[in-house]
Amino acid sequence: MAVNLFKKSAFSLIYQKYMIPVSDEITNMALSYVKGKTNGQPLEMALDVGCGTGRYTLSLAPHFTKVLGLDISESQLSVAKDMTLAKNVSYMVAPAEKLPVKDASVDLVHAGVAAHWFTIDKFLDETMRVLKPGGCLAAHSYEPVPEFEYNNLSHDLNVVMAEVWDTLFQYVDKSTKDMFCRYQHLYEAIPLNDKEHITDIPAKIQLSIPEIIGFIQAIYLCEQLKEKDMRRAEKILIQTEKRFREILGEKADSDCLNMYMKYYCVLACKH
Ligand SMILES: C[S@@+](CC[C@H](N)C(=O)[O-])C[C@H]1O[C@@H](n2cnc3c(N)ncnc32)[C@H](O)[C@@H]1O
Repeated sequence: MAVNLFKKSAFSLIYQKYMIPVSDEITNMALSYVKGKTNGQPLEMALDVGCGTGRYTLSLAPHFTKVLGLDISESQLSVAKDMTLAKNVSYMVAPAEKLPVKDASVDLVHAGVAAHWFTIDKFLDETMRVLKPGGCLAAHSYEPVPEFEYNNLSHDLNVVMAEVWDTLFQYVDKSTKDMFCRYQHLYEAIPLNDKEHITDIPAKIQLSIPEIIGFIQAIYLCEQLKEKDMRRAEKILIQTEKRFREILGEKADSDCLNMYMKYYCVLACKH
């Protein structure tokens, strides 16, 4: 099982505030997939595995009778519980490798930006056990290095960010390397014939400079750097904000930058 990287409440609050918003396109992709495979039958149960602060859990809630968010991090779940008013959503501390539900009881096993931390063979064994016939798996994440765009200053901004990524990638572990491979390993390991691997799903997000600095802090590699060398982490964050402000000049407080991301998604159906 993965080490608990999301164990501090302060980090969970930063995560909830600054992690890029949930992708409606990805949620809709997963929902259309499961609705298509279950021929319009009512959807009873979704599991959101590695649900974190419950961001995707809530976007699944209107489409299922019940949604259960699972995570190994109590601090992530504590933020999730504070945010949730939906009556059909509940949360539980549980690992992806031992899902706390009955055999053949789940319509959708969903994992957003989390499956790279799971022990994949155990997670897939459990997924196969809990899915109903016609039930589906949807696991997705995004490519780690986004591109920034702002008038004719995009190159300068991306040079600054490349230095940030270079520093953070010194802390890359196997999980993050799996993200670079766009979940190819997960796709190949799924013991089902009916499966799809969709990559290069574009997204554009507008962020102010403080939101970009917040986003960097919400990446767990930055949290790892903070744990190992707080002064270096703080210096990088302060210098990055300063350099961004210098590049944008008088527009630094008023304008947002475009951040271009690419998502990827693995979908599978158990017949
Ligand atoms: C980057 S967060 C994503 C949270 C949420 N799905 C979202 O998209 O905002 C990854 C989450 O996976 C959880 N996690 C990591 N390994 C896990 C495991 N083996 N079982 C359950 N949760 C796990 C972490 O605690 C963390 O909350």
